[in-house]
Amino acid sequence: MGKTICFVNNKGGCGKTTTVCAVGQAWAAMGKKILFIDLDSQSNLTSIITDTDPSIQEWETTLEDAFVGGPEFGLPVYHVNDFIDIVPSDLDLSNFDKDVARVTGREYILADLLETVKANYDYILLDCPPALGLITYNALVASDYMVMVTNADGLSYRGLKMVASLFNEVTGNKRLNPQLQIIAAIVTRYEKNNLSELYLQKMKNELGDIIVEPVVRKSTKISQAGSFQRNIYDYDPTGKATKDYMQVANELLQRVVIK
Ligand SMILES: Nc1ncnc2c1ncn2[C@@H]1O[C@H](COP(=O)(O)OP(=O)(O)O)[C@@H](O)[C@H]1O
Ligand SMILES: [Mg+2]
Repeated sequence: MGKTICFVNNKGGCGKTTTVCAVGQAWAAMGKKILFIDLDSQSNLTSIITDTDPSIQEWETTLEDAFVGGPEFGLPVYHVNDFIDIVPSDLDLSNFDKDVARVTGREYILADLLETVKANYDYILLDCPPALGLITYNALVASDYMVMVTNADGLSYRGLKMVASLFNEVTGNKRLNPQLQIIAAIVTRYEKNNLSELYLQKMKNELGDIIVEPVVRKSTKISQAGSFQRNIYDYDPTGKATKDYMQVANELLQRVVIK
């Protein structure tokens, strides 16, 4: 049965999508069967994984259709290659809160949808939006493990605090998801200076071993790869941040396997 992992921070632009791609693609290259789920209406994950331009994407059905249709409708899963499938999103997902406002049990919609596909994958990776609303809530309720993604700066740090309180809310309620575990905090876009060292140290003091070594260094090639919807392992195979991501993906896999 596949394990579900959500990647979260309510700060936008801190590297969540890049990290979900880098981890999932590395695991797929090791022969793991991966399902990516794009929970952000900006659909950056969808663009990178399917190599399509967001402005010309025309998916017949997307995640929002499944959210509205429920388990009988099922998840629209698109096949990318032998090891990677994806449930794409588009701008329609921004209607989620409004569309499900009257649905009872709206915190469980994603969890119910995943039940039907879990057996087909080793890992289901959820790319969360930069907000702690109902979609992220659904992600935490549906997941076995949570990974926090952060930069070593004040805004991300504050974002982490808010994520931690949402985590406490979800695990503190036995009808939500008391089994959810935080397995990692991945520090990305790291550029060494006094301020970033201060925040990294602060995070290490508070989170201890949850912080993954190494941190992922900032690299122009990574942002280029993102804007061209390219896989970082193809675009910059020997780059410093690519190497960091390979190690991070290995470390994360070990943590998931041990659990
Ligand atoms: N290690 C890195 N070095 C440089 N740029 C990065 C790095 N990681 C991510 N980026 C860039 O930062 C921007 C935001 O990253 P993204 O993964 O989309 O963040 P989020 O999903 O949290 O909004 C993107 O343009 C991405 O290419
Ligand atoms: Mg994103």
